[in-house]
Amino acid sequence: MVRRRTSIHGEWSSRWAFILAATGSAVGLGNIWKFPYITGENGGGAFVLVYLLCIAVIGIPIMMAEVMIGRRGRQSPVNTMYNLGIESGSSSHWKWLGWLGVVAGFLILSYYSVIAGWALDYVFKTATGTFSGANAEFVSSTFGGFISDPARLMFWHTLFMLMTMFVVAKGVSGGLEKAVRFLMPSLFVLLIIMVGYAFTTGEFMRGLAFLFEPNFDNLLYKHEAGGEFILNTHGEKIFTLEYVLIAMGHAFFTLSLGMGAIMIYGSYLPHNTSIAKTSFMIAGADTVVALLAGMAIFPIVFANQLDPGKGPGLIFETLPLAFGSMPFGTLFGTLFFVLLVFAAWSSSISLIEPAVAWLVENKNMKRLKAAIIMGASCWLVGILTVLSFNLWKNVHPVDFWVFKNKTFFDVLDYLTANIMLPLGGLAIAIFSVWIMSRSSTSDELDMKEESLAYNIWYFMTRYVTPLAVLFVFANLVELI
Ligand code: TRP
Repeated sequence: MVRRRTSIHGEWSSRWAFILAATGSAVGLGNIWKFPYITGENGGGAFVLVYLLCIAVIGIPIMMAEVMIGRRGRQSPVNTMYNLGIESGSSSHWKWLGWLGVVAGFLILSYYSVIAGWALDYVFKTATGTFSGANAEFVSSTFGGFISDPARLMFWHTLFMLMTMFVVAKGVSGGLEKAVRFLMPSLFVLLIIMVGYAFTTGEFMRGLAFLFEPNFDNLLYKHEAGGEFILNTHGEKIFTLEYVLIAMGHAFFTLSLGMGAIMIYGSYLPHNTSIAKTSFMIAGADTVVALLAGMAIFPIVFANQLDPGKGPGLIFETLPLAFGSMPFGTLFGTLFFVLLVFAAWSSSISLIEPAVAWLVENKNMKRLKAAIIMGASCWLVGILTVLSFNLWKNVHPVDFWVFKNKTFFDVLDYLTANIMLPLGGLAIAIFSVWIMSRSSTSDELDMKEESLAYNIWYFMTRYVTPLAVLFVFANLVELI
């Protein structure tokens, strides 16, 4: 058996530090901004059901595999995959999996920072009472005016990227982790208050039905965002698995899986920590936050006759309505957007941590310099997303296949979440059960090789997870 390694970047002080950091990475814009809007676009209940299934069947086994590989390798994903590839008697080429993750994380952060910037702007909008007593029309036009102003978007994008670089330069186990300790629970409480408000809108049950009553036609046949079915020339509905792909991609995105973020957090994890238990806790917390966000937003959507499929602006055009009319709305609203910024912040650092750790390990760079280089390049690429909502909103850079009619932002989002992350996750699953030996994975997972729990994980990761991903991917080819 191979000697257990230690990490040169230090280790978490405890199991809780890891759980907080990993939950901080998982809970972010994906839960509060993306989950509701893609659920709205993709027709509600059936989409949510598939998403939940993907969390259970694909997400949790892969999360365990990622943490396990990270702790085994104790280095940045690139070097970890390189070493474990050789150690397992396979090939050093597994390092390319690490690189795929570095690129995916980089591309995600480029647009993530822009959206986090929206939340920053909304902290100030809400705090200054912009939305007191506002109606749906006002809230919509405020948002429309905001995203059509590239200079303003640039300003907040720049600020958020600086915030991210600042924390990454200091090392991830620093101050932000302490902050997350009380900010996460606060976000949770505030979401419950929002759900409470949603209860008073009169459309609470309709919101719940939209989220939880599966209508499989909406999932399996092409439709306009949140609405009418698209028909072929014979007037028939067109079958597609694309929405299933989006649900699966989002399961990866929301759990921060498939690009090495959880792997690198695992590399700082002390021994004697149950990887299975912590993975379940992280996935559970993440899912609850997303569902609460959905339960807060959809009743407001229906109470104001808004379109659930309105896209990336959804939360910015619905929640302010609640803040505008509920008691202490200005206070709660400001607090909400502050907490959303923190949730995004604790996620964004995990997106470039693999790249920064690699620069520190292989190029002997100081963390500060590595953070500046990565942050600055990511900031530049982010400009593509800034312009996607205004000057270039009709520019479709890769106008074919699944990228038809998509802006730069849409392309980056689709490519990373629905293609790169599932591909990375698939490779991680394959590596952990087809390449690594049962003795090393069971040792690292702290499970007995003959135990039921280990064998369930092994079976899921060996057969169920890869086949599920491949099945959904197969449909991509058909979309050409
Ligand atoms: N999971 C985060 C969210 O839901 C985003 C995120 C952070 C992420 N790190 C990641 C997504 C790594 C994919 C891979 O907001």
